[in-house]
Amino acid sequence: MRRVYMDANATTPLLPEVVEAMHPYWMEHFGNASSIHLHGQEARKGVERARETLAEFFNCHDAEVVFNSGGTEGDNTAIFGLLHPGDHFITTSIEHSAVIQAAQRMAERGVETTFVAPQPSGLIDPTDILRAIRPQTRLISVMLANNETGVIQPVAEIGRIAADTGVFFHIDAVQGAGKVPIDVRRIGCHLLSISGHKMHAPKGVGAMFVRRGTPVESLLVGGSHERRRRAGTENVAGIVGLGKAAELAMHSLADGVMDRLSGLRWKLETELLKLPGTGMNGAGAPRAANTSNIWFDNLEGEALVIALDLKGIAVSGGSACHSGATEPSHVLMAMGLDKTRARASLRFSMLKTATEADVDYVLQVVPEAVERLRAVSPVEAGTLG
Ligand SMILES: Cc1ncc(COP(=O)(O)O)c(C=O)c1O
Repeated sequence: MRRVYMDANATTPLLPEVVEAMHPYWMEHFGNASSIHLHGQEARKGVERARETLAEFFNCHDAEVVFNSGGTEGDNTAIFGLLHPGDHFITTSIEHSAVIQAAQRMAERGVETTFVAPQPSGLIDPTDILRAIRPQTRLISVMLANNETGVIQPVAEIGRIAADTGVFFHIDAVQGAGKVPIDVRRIGCHLLSISGHKMHAPKGVGAMFVRRGTPVESLLVGGSHERRRRAGTENVAGIVGLGKAAELAMHSLADGVMDRLSGLRWKLETELLKLPGTGMNGAGAPRAANTSNIWFDNLEGEALVIALDLKGIAVSGGSACHSGATEPSHVLMAMGLDKTRARASLRFSMLKTATEADVDYVLQVVPEAVERLRAVSPVEAGTLG
């Protein structure tokens, strides 16, 4: 059976060049990057070369790159590391749970959070951020691209607001990295987090830009790794893999790979939206070139995810499983969808290696599956709220 993976926003496979770059660091260059002997020096060289690449990727100084375990750690570090009791925090209601749950934990420690809601398009209006600022506001955290809709947020404008009001600004760029160019100097943020596994590097490695002088406390204490900003023996092979993936991402962005993907996405969306009872989530907003989020009325999204999986197509639905119950996506609900339509939404997120044949296969399978499910759907029959 043909297999088409359209769930790149969940995770991505390693590219062959990434595996090749990492391989020596599991074998001959296995040293601890803190050791002073030759083995340590080889490992250190790998880490520092990757740091230079990430500095180019972010447009910052080498010393402003901190390697960590991924997006959750970056988001948690920004929030737990900068906020103190009595501070006010501004974020949005469409962030990843790594931000939302961290904000909820900070409430127990006396930090109040304002969750700014998006417009129906999924875009955050920077003036809503400005309006939320109070004298006690210490940190703003807004994502670069949303994981469910791909909507790209106006981070440069928010950066200007943060600069004008003297508030720290963190960007969760986990879903933007590799899809849109990142320039921390232009954006004017203090902190920015990325994750390896969303950009063809391994799971369990990530990086953070920390602007020089930003007083962020490290989450982990122990050794003096990463200039005391993140204790723990460096994941050398993972870091080398992230460096290679960042280098390849910069080439892809320069070589028009995202333009090619937008073309494929246009075909996918144009054809799927011809089906009756469908619509785009995030219509009218700028979106990452790989992501389409579409609702299919009168069916249950999870049933469609399973039906497509049986035909070899991997996508995700507009609901998440929390404590055994399926909850509609908080992102789509914040955009004003009702529960039924949020549950009937599907996310197609292409890898940068996606082909026209992949899109054609999806376009062949989805209409049949939608028709079949609608014919037997309890939503259609009005027996499911
Ligand atoms: C926007 C966003 N932020 C943070 C994360 C968490 O990243 P990680 O899986 O590296 O912990 C994800 C992962 O889905 C994400 O999509």
